[in-house]
Amino acid sequence: MCGIVGYIGEKQAAPILLDGLAKLEYRGYDSAGLAVYDEGKITVRRAVGKLVNLVEKTEEGRAVKGTLGIGHTRWATHGKPNEKNAHPHTGSRFSLVHNGIIENEAELRRRFLSDTEFASETDTEVIVRLMDKFTADGEAVDVAIMHLIDVLEGSYALAIIDSLDGEHMYAVKNKSPLLVGKGDGFNMIGSDAMAMIAHTEWFYEIHDKEFAVVSRDGVEIFTSYSQKVSREPYKAELDLSDISKGTYPHYTIKEIEEQPLVLRRIMQEYMDENGELSVPEEILADLRECDKIYIVACGTSYHAGIIGKHFFEKISGKPADSFVASEFVYNMPLLSEKPFFIFISQSGETADSRAVLVKIKQMGHKALTITNVKGSTLSREADHTLLLYAGPEIAVASTKAYSAQVAVLAILAAALKNNIGINLKYELALVANTIESLCGDKELFSRLAKEYIVPSRNCFYIGRGEDYYVCLEAALKLKEISYIQTEGFAAGELKHGTIALIEKDTPVVAIITQANTQLNTRSNVKEVLSRGAKVIRIAMKSVSSHGDQIVVGDVHEILSPLVSVVPAQYLAYYSALHLGCDIDKPRNLAKSVTVE
Ligand code: F6R
Repeated sequence: MCGIVGYIGEKQAAPILLDGLAKLEYRGYDSAGLAVYDEGKITVRRAVGKLVNLVEKTEEGRAVKGTLGIGHTRWATHGKPNEKNAHPHTGSRFSLVHNGIIENEAELRRRFLSDTEFASETDTEVIVRLMDKFTADGEAVDVAIMHLIDVLEGSYALAIIDSLDGEHMYAVKNKSPLLVGKGDGFNMIGSDAMAMIAHTEWFYEIHDKEFAVVSRDGVEIFTSYSQKVSREPYKAELDLSDISKGTYPHYTIKEIEEQPLVLRRIMQEYMDENGELSVPEEILADLRECDKIYIVACGTSYHAGIIGKHFFEKISGKPADSFVASEFVYNMPLLSEKPFFIFISQSGETADSRAVLVKIKQMGHKALTITNVKGSTLSREADHTLLLYAGPEIAVASTKAYSAQVAVLAILAAALKNNIGINLKYELALVANTIESLCGDKELFSRLAKEYIVPSRNCFYIGRGEDYYVCLEAALKLKEISYIQTEGFAAGELKHGTIALIEKDTPVVAIITQANTQLNTRSNVKEVLSRGAKVIRIAMKSVSSHGDQIVVGDVHEILSPLVSVVPAQYLAYYSALHLGCDIDKPRNLAKSVTVE
């Protein structure tokens, strides 16, 4: 997602900001900017496209003087990726950068800013205008920030500078990641440690609805009701040989949390800035010509394939089915007259899938491979390849590759049809932001895993339709890294046999995101509750009910698997963590399964 970096110290800020932004490039962005304070004035420079454009515009930072500043890489959600929408946004007094989405911006405009002329189409500008308004009404800056926290709804990580004050910058956070880096004679703000690691290894966490007042030689953290927080900085355990794990204790959680970035990268690769889909025409021609799509894969990739089948049928109106490769190869169903094959494989090396590919090529059929690894066997041997752009997936249990597969399948299905009536770029951007908010709920996931799942030897996931498909993947994730036996069930099917296994304290996780089936799944929840099960409910906000423990933000129903799978991935991670399992390398498993 968007990246934030801020610096206050003795050195020139702009080159440091540009360097920090370069470290955040991996997050995906379409414009960049910086604002630097010097002698009572803030200079803002913004540029569309790659960071190099901003580097050139500022002569590598030399053209912007000052030792206090903020920088940003923006991934457009509200408003086009152009210079006026790029951050920092500036009002009459403050400049700020923002990651996240302000959900009540329309209400805030009406309530506080009806006379204000806006220079951009962003929700971020509302925040800077509010800062101007609150301070113009006589509030001190810290009071204005508390007022801001009180009225803003949604997710935000903010870095703010004040044209009347060369001694401070401010960090404000709710549901979007933000850290303060502690230096010697300087301090920094960053959306992740990588932006600051060249300068410091020490970081302060900022919790939701807290703000930090950052000066050259101090950092003070406050709650939204002005109480000073006493918190020690922590040292990032960055082993250089292990650098790609960043500040995370395991690759698994790092990769779970990279999912928003991966989705944005996929959008960058398969969509232009107006949201037009760009999938090679020869692939679309083969897909249009076929009479049925056969999706073949294993494990997690098969689970993504089931969702793909659903996309092709619901979005593009094309018959499709998904098959487990190891079954398909020896028990091939009767094929339609003009079949087209899609192989889904993170590694591109899976032997079971390759066996099918070899066989169907011998039969003269065409195939596309969707893979994370360019030049892999399945990619080389198929007629076409679409890449996942998920970056190296190092943890054995697949997380970000799964969401990448689902997203690429959605784009492919949408590209097959002229007008699908959905703005996929907007909807996927919303998904990415919604996942990012979930990353702020880690304590909840850890507690639920500990209370509900860890004490048991088995567990069930139940759901219907899209939710059922996610249950299959959720169950695989939990069993493979925590070794708790877990099954994903179609919620309505449970009572036809498996409910016999439900006893006192059996954990059951229900996924509920679909309006047309939510009541049925809730009835199934009652059935297991009355037999003593302990139930965790993961519900999408629009269909949530009182008492649902995990409520995920609303996204388009068809894309709900991309969001509802995330709490399940976290539950698996924290169950394994509490049980002391080898999370990144579960026993008996390999990342790339090259034997049949
Ligand atoms: C589970 C997992 C495996 C793989 C499966 C296929 O977390 O990672 O189930 O999905 O082995 O691997 P690829 O996608 O490389 O073909």
